[in-house]
Amino acid sequence: MKRRIFLFNITAAISGLAVTKAFAKMDHFSMSDTMCAINSDECQKGDSMHHEHMNMNMNMSNNKTPQKLLATSALPQGQDLPELTRLKNTSDKQGTFEANLEAKPVKIKLTPELTTEFWAYNGNIPGPAIEAFEGDKVKITVKNSIPQATTVHWHGLLIPSNQDGNPQDEIPAGSSRTYEFTIPEGNAGTYWYHPHGHETVAEQVARGLAGIFIVRSKKDPLASLPEQNWFFSDLKLTDKGEIADNSMVDWMNGREGQFVLINGAYRPKITVKSATRVRIWNACSGRYLNLSIPNCDVYLVGTDGGLMPKPVQLNSPLLLSPAERAELVIVPKHSGTVYLQSIGYDRGKMGNVPPEQDIILGELALTESSPITLPSTLRELTKLGHATAHKTLEYTEVMDMKEPRGGMLFLINGKRHDMQRIDLESKIHEVEEWTIFNNSHMDHNFHIHGAQFTTVSHEVDGKKNPPKYEALKDTINLRPYEKITIKIQQNMPGLRMYHCHIIEHETLGMMGQLMVK
Ligand code: C2O
Ligand code: CU
Ligand code: CU
Repeated sequence: MKRRIFLFNITAAISGLAVTKAFAKMDHFSMSDTMCAINSDECQKGDSMHHEHMNMNMNMSNNKTPQKLLATSALPQGQDLPELTRLKNTSDKQGTFEANLEAKPVKIKLTPELTTEFWAYNGNIPGPAIEAFEGDKVKITVKNSIPQATTVHWHGLLIPSNQDGNPQDEIPAGSSRTYEFTIPEGNAGTYWYHPHGHETVAEQVARGLAGIFIVRSKKDPLASLPEQNWFFSDLKLTDKGEIADNSMVDWMNGREGQFVLINGAYRPKITVKSATRVRIWNACSGRYLNLSIPNCDVYLVGTDGGLMPKPVQLNSPLLLSPAERAELVIVPKHSGTVYLQSIGYDRGKMGNVPPEQDIILGELALTESSPITLPSTLRELTKLGHATAHKTLEYTEVMDMKEPRGGMLFLINGKRHDMQRIDLESKIHEVEEWTIFNNSHMDHNFHIHGAQFTTVSHEVDGKKNPPKYEALKDTINLRPYEKITIKIQQNMPGLRMYHCHIIEHETLGMMGQLMVK
C-alpha cells in the first residue's frame, strides 16, 4: 500500500485560507484518509453526485447506507466487439448531415438479473456513431429528456463557439435545440461528443452520455485499410446494478469503475485478421489507459487532430489520458489469442489507494498478416508562424475544509471556474505560445476548445525536450511538475473553455474561460 502525502501549496493558497489553519486541516485530512480505501464503502456517500446536498468535508460519518460494488465476475465477458450503432443521416442532400439525438434515461439489462438505468443518447451505450465528411453541413437537433440541463460539446471539432455546447448555453430539461455547423476542410479526424453543462458533466458522463464523431476526408491515404473503432469508457456499478455514486477518492483522482468497456462491452473479443486501422478514444472520466497490443506491429498514424505528418512505429505502450484519441495501424505478426491490456501507470493519485496494476481490457484474436509499408507522408501540416503572444497557466491543488467532496480544490492560476469571469483573451488569428505548468504531485491534462495545437517543448526537472513527434492535439497530459509549451491559434471569435479533462477535476472547477476577439 502506498500513502500519498498531501503537499500543501502555499503560493497557490486561495485568499482567506491561512497557512496554519491549512496545516491543521491537513492532519484531519490524513486521519480520514487512512479510513478510506479506494472505492470502499467508507468513501461512498449516497448523494455525493448532487453537490447542493453535499457536505462531505472530511467527515466520514455516513448518513446513508454505503454502496457495495458489483463483483466483476457478474458481467459476461468475451463477446465479440460490438459495432457501434450509426447515427442515421436524415438528409439526402449531398454534403449535409442531419440527425436527431435524444439524451434520455434508458434501462438496459446487463445480465438476466441486473437492470441498469443509464442516461444515453438515443438509448445507446455508447451514443450512436456520427460519421461525416470534411466540408459537410451538420445540423443535429438534441432533445434533452434527462432530469437536468445539459449541452452537447463536439470535442475537438473546429466550430463556432455558440454551437460548441458551452456551459453558458444549456438546454433545460425537457427542451430541445439544434446545433448547426460546417466541418472545415482539412479537419478529418477522430472526435467525440459529450455533455458540458455547468457542474453536471461528471454525473452525465458517468451515467453514459458520450459518443464518437468521425470526420472523413475524400483523400485519405489510409482509405484502403479496414477500420475498427475502440471506444473506451468506464462503468462503476453497485451490487444492485445501479450506476454508483462518486466516492471521495473518485472526486480527488477522477472516477474509475470496476469495469472498463470497449464499445459498451466488458472485455470483448476483438478479431484482427489483417493490417487494420484502429481509432481509439479514451472516453473514461478519470482513467488513464496505457495500451499494450502484443504480437503486432503497431504504428501511430493519428492523434486528436487527425493524421500525423509521418507514421511512428511504437515499441512501448500507448498512453492516453482522458479524452485523448489515437489512430493506429496494427499488423498481427503471429496468429493466436493474446490479451489487450492497460499497463499500470502511476499518475500520483491522492489518498490511500492501491498501486496501479496491469488490467485486462479484452482479448485479441490475431491472424498472422504480412508486414506493410505505410506511406512515409500521411499529411502536410501547415506550420504556424512565430508566436507574438504568450500565456501561462499553472495547475495547483489546495485543500479547503469548507468545500464538499473531500475538500479538494483544483485550480488554474489560483482560481476555480467561474461562468461569469473571462480569464484570458486572445486576438483572433494571432499565433500564441501557452506554457502550462502542472505545479502538483498528480498528473493532470490540458484540453482547449476551438483550436488544435502543436507541442513546442516538455520540461521536467529543468530539462527541456522537444516532443517525440509532430502531431495536432486538443488534449495533452502533464506529469507532476511538468511544464509544456504549445503553439496555438484561435480562428473564430467567442468564448472557449480550457480545462483538465479528468472529468471530476473539470466539474470541481479546474477550468478557465478564454475570450477570442
Ligand atoms: Cu471534452 Cu471541454 O471537453
Ligand atoms: Cu472539448
Ligand atoms: Cu486534473
